[in-house]
Amino acid sequence: MCGIIGIIGKAPVTPLLVDALKRLEYRGYDSSGVATLVNGHIERRRAEGKLVNLEARLAQAPLPGIIGIGHTRWATHGKPSERNAHPIATDRVAIVHNGIIENFQELKDELTAEGRRFDSDTDTEVVAQLLTSYLERQMSPEEAIAKAMDRLRGAFALVALFGGRHDLLIGARRGSSLAVGYGDGEMYIGTDALALAPFTSRVSYLEDDDWAVLKADGCAVYQGTKPVERPIKKSGLSGALMGKGNHQHFMLKEIHEQPAVIGDTLHSYLDPATRSVRMPAMPVDWSKVSRVTMTACGTAFYACMVAKYWFEKLARLPVEIEVASEFRYREPPLPEGGVCIAVSQSGETVDTLEALRYAKNQKQTLLSVVNVPESAIARLSNAVLLTRAGPEIGVASTKAFTTQLVVLLAAAISAGLARGTLSRADEERLALAMIELPARINETLNMEEDYRRIAENTLAGARDVLYLGRGASYPVALEGALKLKELSYIHAEGYAGGEMKHGPIALIDDAVPVVVVAPTDAIFDKIASNFEQVRARGGKLVLLSDKAGVARLGAKAETSIALPDIDPVVAPILYTVAVQLLAYYTALAKGTDIDQPRNLAKSVTVE
Ligand code: M6R
Repeated sequence: MCGIIGIIGKAPVTPLLVDALKRLEYRGYDSSGVATLVNGHIERRRAEGKLVNLEARLAQAPLPGIIGIGHTRWATHGKPSERNAHPIATDRVAIVHNGIIENFQELKDELTAEGRRFDSDTDTEVVAQLLTSYLERQMSPEEAIAKAMDRLRGAFALVALFGGRHDLLIGARRGSSLAVGYGDGEMYIGTDALALAPFTSRVSYLEDDDWAVLKADGCAVYQGTKPVERPIKKSGLSGALMGKGNHQHFMLKEIHEQPAVIGDTLHSYLDPATRSVRMPAMPVDWSKVSRVTMTACGTAFYACMVAKYWFEKLARLPVEIEVASEFRYREPPLPEGGVCIAVSQSGETVDTLEALRYAKNQKQTLLSVVNVPESAIARLSNAVLLTRAGPEIGVASTKAFTTQLVVLLAAAISAGLARGTLSRADEERLALAMIELPARINETLNMEEDYRRIAENTLAGARDVLYLGRGASYPVALEGALKLKELSYIHAEGYAGGEMKHGPIALIDDAVPVVVVAPTDAIFDKIASNFEQVRARGGKLVLLSDKAGVARLGAKAETSIALPDIDPVVAPILYTVAVQLLAYYTALAKGTDIDQPRNLAKSVTVE
């Protein structure tokens, strides 16, 4: 979604605004802009497309000013264009906005009837016009914001810059995240601590319905008209601009970071010396839980799918999973004393957040698996299981997903121990399999050229690709297909191997590559049958298996890769790396924009 930044500085702020936008660009990248006050007047520079276009614009027409706001956009209302790029401004106020003003049409009709003229197609402009209308009625900026908060519906984070007010920025949030940074005679406000990291490590996080008045010497926060305190915390994020290292893309760097970040995550949840699971204190007695509900979106949802296999098999605990955007509207009855687990890299995906709110209203104990400790989902939860993936900049989720799987497996083992379905010997065996993961993933990464070859020779020229898996490899097939479509724009679908014959098999011909995710586990024979069914119809088979699997089926496939041998329980984590590499190298061969694929955004803060 959109990234926003505001700075009250002592020196020209435009370079700092652009620096912050570079850190936020992964969130949305269809246009960007900055606004400052020059001799008290609002001045803007905006550009369609990537941030480099804005930088070029600023090089031609520099923007002075020691107070300003900036924005990088993922379009919701109005196509990506300079006209719709933020800051959206009148002569009195300029606004940067993340989220959606749901009642924008009603407000627009009202404001148009007052004689106001709209210059953009955005929902954001109603905020600028509404504030202007209030300011023209002699309200102060503070009064105008407080009154506007009562009129706006939807999820949003906003920062406003006021004409003639070199000393003032006002931010407001409902649903979308907003953090305030404290400098030395300078103040900052932005989407997250990452955006503020180069400027300050002293950060406070606004709560829903807060509005914050920033002046050069501090910040006052209000809910309605009541002042509230928001503690200042020390952010541990690095001030250095995130780099790609020696890698061509953030995604490739993040794929390669997996052995390390999985190691870090294991360190938090396992004791390697005793080969035992070490979970933080949790408000859940697994032995008394009758059912778990899990919810998430996209790749994080596939983590829930894998975890369902683990919780049901290892802890004999029934798990219901549903994509978050459907979950709350279905209004499912949830059992008394139930547990709801939300999984989210960003911790701010609004569908997941709202699903969790629904579960809270149903009196569930809320657990979350998130990568951002101060995120809205983390703060709503009764307990947080942090992944240690570090910032994930590539839009396609990679290391976030595999670390989510590590955390969820540790939780499932801990539930199994509490419920008496796993013995101490089982725990040791499973812990050992997890401890081996970083080394096995490294071995897989060392075979990168094999993935590149398959991507170039078999996948990149295809119009459609199918992925098959069974058991816990089925969600890996879904994830492989999602990664391929996100990155390469090739149509791809994942299916449970056994489901093929019930319809999708009609798609098979010699132009459709079929990637089969098939570690030799208890149901290998079943996926082997599905493999044969595809082969009998002339499908181009790409086999991902281990040595034994490749020995058995490899000769019948168009191409195959033998992954390292590994305990089947952790195989979904290892095989995920394989499908990530296939998607990455296919996209590379097609020349698509890997880190910022078209139409996507990293954090989805709108419904
Ligand atoms: O931040 P979250 O984990 O909540 O995000 C959920 C999905 O939007 C995300 O996983 C998305 O599907 C990615 N683009 C997948 O690569």
